[in-house]
Amino acid sequence: MSATIIDGKAIAAQIKSEVKLEADSLKREHGIVPGLAFILVGENPASQSYVRSKGKACKELGFHSVTEERPSTISQDEILKLIHTFNSDPNIHGILVQLPLPKHIDENEVIMAIDWRKDVDGFHPVNVGKLVIGQPCLRPCTPAGVQELLVRSGNDPAGKHVVVVGRSNIVGKPVMNILLQKQQGANAVVTIAHTGGGDIAKYTKQADIVVAAIGKAEAITGDMLQPGCVVIDVGINRVADASTKTGSRLVGDVHFASASQVASAITPVPGGVGPMTIAMLMKNTLQAAKNLSSTT
Ligand code: GUN
Repeated sequence: MSATIIDGKAIAAQIKSEVKLEADSLKREHGIVPGLAFILVGENPASQSYVRSKGKACKELGFHSVTEERPSTISQDEILKLIHTFNSDPNIHGILVQLPLPKHIDENEVIMAIDWRKDVDGFHPVNVGKLVIGQPCLRPCTPAGVQELLVRSGNDPAGKHVVVVGRSNIVGKPVMNILLQKQQGANAVVTIAHTGGGDIAKYTKQADIVVAAIGKAEAITGDMLQPGCVVIDVGINRVADASTKTGSRLVGDVHFASASQVASAITPVPGGVGPMTIAMLMKNTLQAAKNLSSTT
């Protein structure tokens, strides 16, 4: 079997155009332009590239955006001060502190300092709690993107057994909490497989849908999958490859060549989940702008 490729780039483009339409009417009818503030600390090339891409999406959609770049020597207090300034800025509806932060910074305290109504990453404990108990909230972008990819590619998770591999706060746990909801586009039976549970294949072989988010290059291979399953690969790993110009290439957490022989549908890396994260960030920022200005 050769799997259908789920085109994350095309689905993300569709979501962004929907968001743009809504943002244009918010501007026309209420004079509100969604505004997103980025805080980028240090010189991590991946973080710099992510923030650049997110800023570009803001431009495309006509959002207002500000990026505050600071050296890795910044103090905890200085970061908190920046956040407080954005919390009280009426033109800013979303605040995104790019992670990871330097070791001397307390990441939890930084996230807690963000006004949860502007927490477009969905990392603040208020939003995490609301998600768990099924209240409307700002949802983490990558997990929300995983759900949209499934639904819009015709692979509704309702009634399916989803095995999420990885238990991180950014991906694994929120994917579980989103797909568990008694709501349209969710209602799945969810298992989280992780390094504490021994043989990962024991779980993935029972999955109708596998969401791979372990952060280990090509760890999920075709022989670990049930024939006909759907595979969503959240991983982005750079591996050495002498045959390329740069000497490296990006791969996911799934071994694409073998998995695509077994699965019925699969996301590629790049071009799968990656573009969805940005599209959902734009959607969250629009939602935050609407919530804060009570236009709905
Ligand atoms: N670093 C890696 N992923 C993310 C994300 O989704 N949001 C933020 N703020 N930082 C990240």
